[in-house]
Amino acid sequence: ELNDQIEKVIASLKINDEQLKHIMRTLEEEMNTGLSPTTHKQSSVKMFPSYVRHIPDGTEVGQVLALDLGGTNFRILSIKLRGNSKIDLTSKIFVVPQSVMIGDGRHLFRHLVECLSDFMKKEALLHTGICYPLGFTFSFPCKQESLSSARLTAWTKGFSCSGVVNEDVVKLLQDAINEKGINVKCAALVNDTVGTLMACAYREPSTAIGLILGTGTNACYIENLDNVGTWNGDYNEPKQVIINMEWGAFGDNGCLNHIRTKYDEEVDLSSINPGKQTFEKMISGMYMGEIVRLIILDLLQQELLFLGHRDTYGDYKTPLYNRGGFYTKFVSTVETDEGIKFSNTRRVLEDIGIRNPTFDDCVIVQHICRQVSTRAARLAGAGLAVLINRMKKSNITIGVDGSLYRYHPRFKRNMERCMENLVHKDLKFKWALSDDGSGKGAALVACVAEQNSSGIF
Ligand code: BG6
Ligand code: GLC
Repeated sequence: ELNDQIEKVIASLKINDEQLKHIMRTLEEEMNTGLSPTTHKQSSVKMFPSYVRHIPDGTEVGQVLALDLGGTNFRILSIKLRGNSKIDLTSKIFVVPQSVMIGDGRHLFRHLVECLSDFMKKEALLHTGICYPLGFTFSFPCKQESLSSARLTAWTKGFSCSGVVNEDVVKLLQDAINEKGINVKCAALVNDTVGTLMACAYREPSTAIGLILGTGTNACYIENLDNVGTWNGDYNEPKQVIINMEWGAFGDNGCLNHIRTKYDEEVDLSSINPGKQTFEKMISGMYMGEIVRLIILDLLQQELLFLGHRDTYGDYKTPLYNRGGFYTKFVSTVETDEGIKFSNTRRVLEDIGIRNPTFDDCVIVQHICRQVSTRAARLAGAGLAVLINRMKKSNITIGVDGSLYRYHPRFKRNMERCMENLVHKDLKFKWALSDDGSGKGAALVACVAEQNSSGIF
């Protein structure tokens, strides 16, 4: 039995199947608007053609490097494709300091290249006389003009370097590479969704969707060229192209306002990109913990929670009072509690400065976490349902990556559960978790691009 006030908060987070179907129709309209040459500027869903048209088949051969920037970790990979669906892969995680994430763009690219050079040295790839092709997973919205030219339209997530928006990111990277004097050619830039789709397709050729549920959220899928009015490349076979939807921005034109709560508005206003990434802010890991924190704080201030703990009130130093103080991984931890002991929930509450919570406090906090993560899963599930219904192909595979999908105990189950009511009955699908990240996919694209440009095929 929850108190009425609490019920009201919980109810504001619920999105029923009818509402989801309405959201699905809106998303599909936005997608079509985004694909049309005359209207695409009006759509909140940008639908960028990726210029990736071929799905790998395992016969690719070559030695390639990859950079993977924009998720939790910045990774550099060295990949040897052996041509029989076998890959040798080494990788290393490097740090991108916060100051670099929001500093001068030239410093960012110099930093990436410093790390690349260190990595190549360690892997004995410097001074070999070979120019290695590089695939760049760059997980931000880019308007591409080819595989190797991509203008950043806006920073998202925690990045905001100056002098990069509207610039060709491949050129910025290549300039920094040339300045350093290392023998590398950036042959392709891909979004992480596209890298994930490609990496999964290498093992599972039925992969037709790439999905990220991590720091941010986004999806890509294989679209028929006939539906891509904005396409300006050639029409050779296969008549398809992978579209990077940038669905995180869905709703930026106000079309999702009817489901947003005051907590969503607060999260948005205190972010570094207010008014942007509406859908992403209701779903992804960068924001989920913060939504929960704001709800808990609101209930506390209404004296509906932690009543036995009044000395916490006004203690502005506790994480509960600070932006980012409730990590998204806490949502997962709280939701792993089953039964009535709430040992994980108690541990999390202690971490945010609440000692000795009551049984009721734990019940309420867990309930809030469940509502927020279930809402996120249902919104993502509705987005996927639009894609599956649109492609009208059965037995496709959804390639997935991201910390939210990997570590939340029931995100996948909640997506599946809602998709049962939203996906056409005769369309079956399965999931494939990407194993080495999206850099592998970027490497595949770079390898094929490089071989084509040097006339091997
Ligand atoms: C990684 C991919 O595994 O997952 C990245 O290699 C991607 O390209 C990332 O951005 C997304 O997850 P997270 O949780 O790190 O944002
Ligand atoms: C953000 C980026 C997008 C990326 C997603 C997942 O939404 O804009 O390009 O795919 O995060 O990392």
